[in-house]
This record gives sequence, structure tokens and C-alpha cells, in this order.
Amino acid sequence: ISLKPYNSFGIDVKASYFAEISSEADLVSLFKNELVKSQRLLVIGGGSNVLFTKDYDGLVIKISIKGIQSKVIDEKVLVTAGAGEVWNDFVNYCVEHHFAGVENLSLIPGTVGASPIQNIGAYGVELKDVFESCTAFEIKTGKMKTFGYADCHFGYRESIFKGELKGQYIITSVIFRLSAEAKINTSYGAIETELLNRGIENPDIADVSSAVSHIRVSKLPDPSTIGNAGSFFKNPVIEKHEFADIVAKHPDVVHYPTADDKIKLAAGWLIEQCGWKGKVVGQTGTWKNQALVLVNHAHATGTEVYNFSEQIIDSVKSTFGVTLEREVNIL
Ligand code: EPU
Repeated sequence: ISLKPYNSFGIDVKASYFAEISSEADLVSLFKNELVKSQRLLVIGGGSNVLFTKDYDGLVIKISIKGIQSKVIDEKVLVTAGAGEVWNDFVNYCVEHHFAGVENLSLIPGTVGASPIQNIGAYGVELKDVFESCTAFEIKTGKMKTFGYADCHFGYRESIFKGELKGQYIITSVIFRLSAEAKINTSYGAIETELLNRGIENPDIADVSSAVSHIRVSKLPDPSTIGNAGSFFKNPVIEKHEFADIVAKHPDVVHYPTADDKIKLAAGWLIEQCGWKGKVVGQTGTWKNQALVLVNHAHATGTEVYNFSEQIIDSVKSTFGVTLEREVNIL
């Protein structure tokens, strides 16, 4: 089966086996099969954070478990969503029901089940800020397990599911802790500017969601027309003394302090300074409005995109002495 429809980069590779799962019961029965147990496994949601560089020799499982339920407890709201819900459909559901907390995360590609794995984040909010718990299937034992906030070890684009427990669990549903009383977060400058341009002084969550969606659409390529996986690299976090050397040579370097007294650099800025923004190299390149996003212009192979990303890493390393780390999973 071709995986082209199942990865947002639109890379045309094949998987030896493929299964689509629409309930926890499906998952339990799938793993009773001996052939399944012996396979190399890849679990995907929206396929929006992978780059395939070759055919997948093993079983690809697409999680399509649906359903959203909510429970209002005073001003707190617990919303349970199936792992296979499209992330933005879930955000829209919350905005329509006036459940606040995820509006800044509007239009992020992918599914609910993938959201805790790399602690998705945008415009001043991260998944961890609204995460209550998730349920996951343990591959080895076939049992379901609940992970609370503290169990997940969230960090910047990190969690235990990407680290220590990588490949061991399949998330089947997530519970979010939202609020019936909106606490609007417009700390991210671009949102404030967008709301101001619209003449909105007291935004509600629908306004924030709409502003964020507008900003994303204007900056980021739409994967349904131009293959991409969002930010290809993480924003590098460096020590203060390393930053001192960089800022001495590049006084306008875009940077933010982190909670643990380090400095986060804007990878998009570093890449743009190296002259890569909007560059087209064969079938790949960086996006014209956001250099952190690598794209497939039509018929790129995963290897072509990967090799291009190596060139960017080398170039940023030699100009700034900083090593970019990929955010996208390479397979
Ligand atoms: N910048 C440039 N040139 C570029 C791109 C960015 O100079 O080509 C500068 C911008 O001017 C700005 C700064 O870099 O001063 C940050 O840019 P932006 O606001 O676009 O955000 P980002 O740091 O590049 C991160 C996330 C995005 C998320 C945005 C908004 C990571 C790796 N990426 O990007 O998440 O949407 O912030 O919050 O943290 C994703 O993870 O796939 C993703 C798209």
C-alpha cells in the first residue's frame, strides 16, 4: 500500500502491511495476531510529523478512533477525545462550545492522539497547559494504561512517549482540562497585531482562534497542496555563555529566555540569515514565508528532503556554531 495519502509531506513510499484502527477493541484484537506481533511497527495519526526516506518494511497502523465528550464541572471542563480525531476538528468543537484553552492551537495539523507525544505548541500555548490525562494501549501486555500529567514528562516538543517509552504505547484517547471561563492568551505579539488590525478590543476565544488561523494560513504552506510537516527543526536552546558569543557577532539575533535560564533561538531566523529562505533545490526547499518549514514541491523523495536538511544544518553550524535538531521523525 502506498503511504502517500498518509503523510503530509506527500512522499510516495510503500508499507508492507497497513491497518486502520477505529476502536480500542480493534487494537486489542489486532495484537492477538502472531503476524502482527512479529512486525516492525509504526503508528501514525495524521502523518504530519514524519519524513519517509524509504519503503516501510513492517506494519503501519493508522489510528482513527473517533468521538468527543465533555463534562462541565463548575468552571472547569473535561473534554475526552478519541486519538483519531483531527486536531483542528477538536479545537473547533471546543471553540463552538465555548471551552477555552486550545484556541491558540488552531489549525495545527495532525490528530489528538499525536498531540501529547511531542507536546505540540504554538502562539504561547503548549498541549501540556491543558492536558489532564491520556489512555494508551501497552503493546507488550495488550493492556490499557492511564498516564497523568506528571507521568508524561513534558518538555519543549518532548514527552515520555518520544523518550523512554518510545514505541511501547499507542495513545487511544486524551482528556483535556479546559475552562468554561475564557482566559484569553494574546501574549504572542502576532495575535495582538492581528486582533488590532481587525479592530477587536475584547476578543473571545473564537476571535483568537480565527486570528491564529489567519496567521498560520498566511505563513505556513497548506499540506494538501504543498507537502510539508510544519517546522522541520526545533528552535535550539543554548546556554547563556554560548549566546553571548553569538549576539556579539549578530546583535539582531532573534531569541527568547526560557524558564530554566537558557536562551531559545528562532531557527527560522538562523536559516533565513544563511540565505535559505524560499530557496528551491530540485523538488524541495524552504517555504517562502517561513524558512523553518521544508516543503515538497511535487515529486520530492524523502532522501532529497533529508539531504537538503543536512545542508541547512551544516550551514547554520558554520555560520552560528549552533547545531539544529530535527523535529520531524525520519524513517
Ligand atoms: N523568523 C525569521 N525568518 C523565518 C522564520 C521566522 O526571521 O523564515 C523569525 C520571525 O520573524 C520571528 C521568529 O523567527 O521573530 C519566530 O518565528 P515564528 O513566530 O514563525 O515561530 P517559530 O519559532 O518559527 C514556532 C513553532 C511553530 C509555531 C510557531 C508559533 C517550533 C519548532 N515551531 O515556530 O510550530 O506554529 O512557533 O508559535 O517551535 C511546528 O512545530 O510544526 C510549528 C509550526
